[in-house]
Amino acid sequence: MIGIIAAMPKETDSLYEAMTEKTRETIARMDFVRGKLDGKDAVVCTCGPGKVFAAAATQIMIDRFAPSCILNTGIAGTLSPELHIGDIAIADRVMQHDMDTSALGDEIGMVSRVNRVYFDCDETLVRLAEKTVAEEGWHAVRGTVASGDQFVSDRKRKEWIAGTFGAIACEMESGAIGQIGFVNGVKFLALRVISDEADGSATDNYAAFAVAAAEKSVSVVRRMTAMIGEEK
Ligand code: ADE
Repeated sequence: MIGIIAAMPKETDSLYEAMTEKTRETIARMDFVRGKLDGKDAVVCTCGPGKVFAAAATQIMIDRFAPSCILNTGIAGTLSPELHIGDIAIADRVMQHDMDTSALGDEIGMVSRVNRVYFDCDETLVRLAEKTVAEEGWHAVRGTVASGDQFVSDRKRKEWIAGTFGAIACEMESGAIGQIGFVNGVKFLALRVISDEADGSATDNYAAFAVAAAEKSVSVVRRMTAMIGEEK
């Protein structure tokens, strides 16, 4: 069973359309659609924006559907000069840029109890994502993706996140999904298509770019789904 989580309907609608033998369950006001996707058993959830919904969706998905891995698809703001709108950020690790207990002497970003800032993505899934993207001739960068309960649209904040954590893209869910995957021992990957500059510059075009970026992310995730478990 492959688990797929995204925040918004525009990031999952075409996945639901592509699925067959579908059954739908609504839990905690989130839809979990189970069925066949590109030949594989899959469960797809639209969790809603932010780390709280993302964490809840991940734990429910693990408890209810026991996925062997979780893929997080969607859009992100760029934090890297190498990533422009339409390019792809493949997370090899995720973190939470708004986690801060530094007043207590902790490293900024550190999640106490598990005592780590970064949650690694599964290397086999990262390589599969790189291969899939390369086959399409799309530009991708592999690196740290930073999440927070904030739509980043300010140059100073953008530069601070990039500089403090070495992050290449920002969004609002994968850090939570990575953390919950980690404490449950479930493999995880986040793949995000860039929809904006995260500096407040592109708000006029954001809606159109966001739809196109979400579709591109879905297309990579579908190709990956077809190949998962069949790697040589
Ligand atoms: N998702 C897409 N763009 C984003 C941004 N700039 N900040 C947070 N989440 C995003």
